[in-house]
Amino acid sequence: MTTENAWRRLSEHAEEVKSLHLKELLKDEARIDSLKHRHDHLLLDFSKQRIVPETFKRLAQLAEASDLTKHIERLFEGDIVNQSEQRPALHTALRAPKSTQIEYEGRNVIDEVYESLGRMDEIVTQIHAGQWRGFSGEPITTIVNIGVGGSDLGPMMACKALAEFRAPTEQKLEFIFVSSMDGSQLAEVLDHLNPANTLFILASKSFTTIDTLANGATAREWLCNASGLDDALLMKRHFIGVTAVPDKANEWGIPCENQLHFAQWVGGRYSLWSAIGLPIALKIGMTGFRQLLDGAHSMDQHFRHTPFERNLPVLLALTEIWNINFLDIHAHAILPYDGRLAHLPAYLEQLEMESNGKSVTQSGEPVTRRTCPVLWGEVGPNAQHAFYQLLHQGTERVMCDFILPARRYDDHSDELKKQHRLALANCLAQSRTLALGDDVIKHAENAPAHKRYPGNQPSTTFLLDELNPYNFGALIALYEHKVYTQAVIWNINPFDQWGVELGKVMANELLESIENQETGNFDGATNALLTEIHALNQF
Ligand code: F6P
Repeated sequence: MTTENAWRRLSEHAEEVKSLHLKELLKDEARIDSLKHRHDHLLLDFSKQRIVPETFKRLAQLAEASDLTKHIERLFEGDIVNQSEQRPALHTALRAPKSTQIEYEGRNVIDEVYESLGRMDEIVTQIHAGQWRGFSGEPITTIVNIGVGGSDLGPMMACKALAEFRAPTEQKLEFIFVSSMDGSQLAEVLDHLNPANTLFILASKSFTTIDTLANGATAREWLCNASGLDDALLMKRHFIGVTAVPDKANEWGIPCENQLHFAQWVGGRYSLWSAIGLPIALKIGMTGFRQLLDGAHSMDQHFRHTPFERNLPVLLALTEIWNINFLDIHAHAILPYDGRLAHLPAYLEQLEMESNGKSVTQSGEPVTRRTCPVLWGEVGPNAQHAFYQLLHQGTERVMCDFILPARRYDDHSDELKKQHRLALANCLAQSRTLALGDDVIKHAENAPAHKRYPGNQPSTTFLLDELNPYNFGALIALYEHKVYTQAVIWNINPFDQWGVELGKVMANELLESIENQETGNFDGATNALLTEIHALNQF
């Protein structure tokens, strides 16, 4: 079947399914059963999606017509899947076993992966043992990761999610993540930190990102002023550089032995598994970090070898394509019912929107169908008190991911156990109400209009047995592969991000005008704002 035929068959099918309400669909027990799929410790429940078993069949035909199997192999084999930058995207190699062989540019990439893991292990061991000492001889106790985008969001998310798997260390380590270009986060933390035991990780794939280098320069100035010591010594004791461009880190002054490297074929937003994950390894130890990699690898194997009808990333991708391209739903809410996953929405905003926020095909033609929706989110129970009103009674159709670790607080107090039960109940209550609308209440038809709930908002429930490094790795890899599958079907490149480049060039031009207090030759609105800014500043 051609892709156009597959799209057409789905459009025809959508005409039949569009009118079905979830309150009808959820009466069919056999349907519910057929829409639950598990891999390892993760269950995906698609029964609250506006689909019937036939929908998956036709979506699978679209995947086949798009040559998805071939494209999955290309990803794992290290083919040039990032056309515009002429690179493979080998994040799966970062979590592959040592015995794997993946050739790129005449080398087995697995060798460099394990070389970097070995270096990471050495650094982690030294810091954990209290052997990495600051300028006054005190062991390091505070780690400040300076990075942005993929060099910040992944490690920050994982460190929060997995905090209770903290590795035993000589001194308790505190972790701080700084990303904001304007210096507000850094200025706030520097007030409280002791320079003698603070270590900065400067994390930047390119080592040219101005946000990161500006924060790095402020940290360096702070250390220098506080210690009165020579820059070379401070660099040696207080800075680690993580990058794919060692020359740039050298230029910045970070000594070679304080650098961790990873390859250009690791995309920024796919880099938490590489040396960019150093804060994670420092937090949960190398054993925990390897469990995280193992969980992701298990999902990789599942994605590569499982038929589409049971393949979690493929099913997730196809369900969303159904919502976006056939049910006209262009907003996607990520709703974890666990505060440890507080940074997951921000992480997925980058993973999904920077990857698939594209409107030209791999061959440069305009796309003819909608691609990535607007995606945002919040810890579910908090969002209930913020934007759920719109989900329940607004005019927007929104698809939701409810993410729920089923087991928690086994060894904790009764009150905490009760809090977990509260979260479970609220998660189920919300997905149920969003699906069924006022069918969940008796005699709703007599209620005034402002108390009516239309329902029929589709959602997927992600039920994790529990949150641990392995399961968390699998969850993130699931989302990565979902994004790739969608990109294959939309025929777009998920591994570049040219759209963000122009903004950087524009900012440089404006910076010059601001520093020279000139109005410049911009558009009228910008010139007028510059005049206002100049009147308020003397740089
Ligand atoms: O500007 C976007 C971006 O390039 C992201 O793709 C990336 O994760 C982020 O900036 C940070 O880049 P780097 O790790 O090179 O500092």
